[in-house]
Amino acid sequence: MERNQRLEMKGISKSFHGIPANQDISFCIESGEILGLLGENGAGKTTLMNILYGLYQPDAGEIRINGTPVRIHNPVESIFHGIGMVHQHFMLIQNHSVLENIALSYKDTPFFFPKLKIREKIETFSKSFDFNMDLTKKIWQLSAGEQQRVEIIKALLNGADLLILDEPTSVLTPQEIKELISILKGMKAKGHMIIFISHKLDEIMDICDRVLVLQKGRIAGSALTRDTDKTSLARMMVGRDVVFNIKREKIERGRQILSVEHLDVMGDKGIPALKDISFDVFENEIFGVAGVSGNGQRELAEAVTGIRAVKSGKIRINDQDITNTSPRHIYDLGVSHVPEERIRFGIAPGLFLYDNAILKQHHLKKFSQRYFLKYKEVKHHTKTLMNDFNVSAHSINSQIRNLSGGNIQKLILGREISEKPQLLVASHPTYGLDVGATEFMRNHLLMLRKTGSAVLLFSEDLEEIFELCDRIAVIFDGEFMAILDSDDQRLCDIGLMMAGSERI
Ligand SMILES: Nc1ncnc2c1ncn2[C@@H]1O[C@H](COP(=O)(O)OP(=O)(O)O)[C@@H](O)[C@H]1O
Ligand SMILES: [Mg+2]
Repeated sequence: MERNQRLEMKGISKSFHGIPANQDISFCIESGEILGLLGENGAGKTTLMNILYGLYQPDAGEIRINGTPVRIHNPVESIFHGIGMVHQHFMLIQNHSVLENIALSYKDTPFFFPKLKIREKIETFSKSFDFNMDLTKKIWQLSAGEQQRVEIIKALLNGADLLILDEPTSVLTPQEIKELISILKGMKAKGHMIIFISHKLDEIMDICDRVLVLQKGRIAGSALTRDTDKTSLARMMVGRDVVFNIKREKIERGRQILSVEHLDVMGDKGIPALKDISFDVFENEIFGVAGVSGNGQRELAEAVTGIRAVKSGKIRINDQDITNTSPRHIYDLGVSHVPEERIRFGIAPGLFLYDNAILKQHHLKKFSQRYFLKYKEVKHHTKTLMNDFNVSAHSINSQIRNLSGGNIQKLILGREISEKPQLLVASHPTYGLDVGATEFMRNHLLMLRKTGSAVLLFSEDLEEIFELCDRIAVIFDGEFMAILDSDDQRLCDIGLMMAGSERI
């Protein structure tokens, strides 16, 4: 099939309930080009791409392919026009195999679907892009990176000339990111067009030819990557200078806040998730747990915050035994939690923004009097939170489900860290946040450290771990491979430890 040479979006506008998400956006992309799409959470990136993919109809503007205006009413039509999209949240059927998932979406799948024929097709494709994939595995058995590859194969098999990837690297491990980047570079060499949405400026600089920056639904600027740098891109996006390398000052740590001894915890599948874990976290300390996700991080955070039962071992806060007590009891002792799956567990989607801003805190004196909420205080608190965390929403009376994913995150983070905790358990706190919010979040964690809180930080982002943590534990398969001071030279081998091949 001949590749499309040029795709253009012209004067695109789109509003939701009268609130503009995209305003008069025009850009084009040509064969063999990788275009980066940058913008703060809520800037309108996903909306714009959903329009291109036929999920939304624009209020104004048009799409042209090789100069000819086309109307794309739904994803089936976008596939017909050679457009494929990998969403932020994958759209695969968990209980089906890789092969079945691909066959289901394959546009030429015959009525009686001959697995052999499709299998051959997939294998040819996998070879030419250097994928390695077991087609019989069920989706739930795959890592995020593997699921993403299934989505990419689906799009390629359907003849996508243009592939849209919405924040594809935010769910991947460093190794998987490398693999994805090489796949994308291979596609570029074959003449595909790629639109790549990311908050990670290093990635954008590495793989994109050109960058388009959105701000509050409008184009704030565009640049060739070879003519620009991270600092100017960040300024274009946020409208001010962003500090990339935060300085962590030296502070003496205080007394012990959290103590974990010989902890054993079971995972969801009935297999031990944590084996004999012991460590302490002190006042004025950020204790980081580094590792590839799925090695027990989630279970550790859940055990400490009381959401998951402990099989054996002891957890103490301020010398008080909290093993297998209730989450509410632990919260009242001053333990806050920024959970991994914030959107699923951190909000009540149908409630208003201001209700969500004080979830779990309704009973606090400052928000309630007997049985009544003090709405004035609640709303004032919500406004401050939204201001500090730069949450963009039409009003505090909006339902939270209408906010973009990044903005929901910011609100939850703000809520959890606004009550100054004794211990903050933070799971991937900057995951999915834009550069401005990431900077704010990291500074906030350092501020908590400075003012005497203890922080237990889980992150897959090694840069973040090294920048923030006083001590670093490396977790693999439910065990700590090492606990080291952040300036320990042996941390050069952190990659090996994360892969389980070295123990200190
Ligand atoms: N289905 C929808 N209903 C109402 N508002 C929406 C919907 N989708 C997006 N929005 C709003 O449009 C704006 C842009 O969101 P989005 O395109 O998701 O931003 P981004 O992907 O850049 O983070 C946000 O203010 C968001 O609240
Ligand atoms: Mg988005």
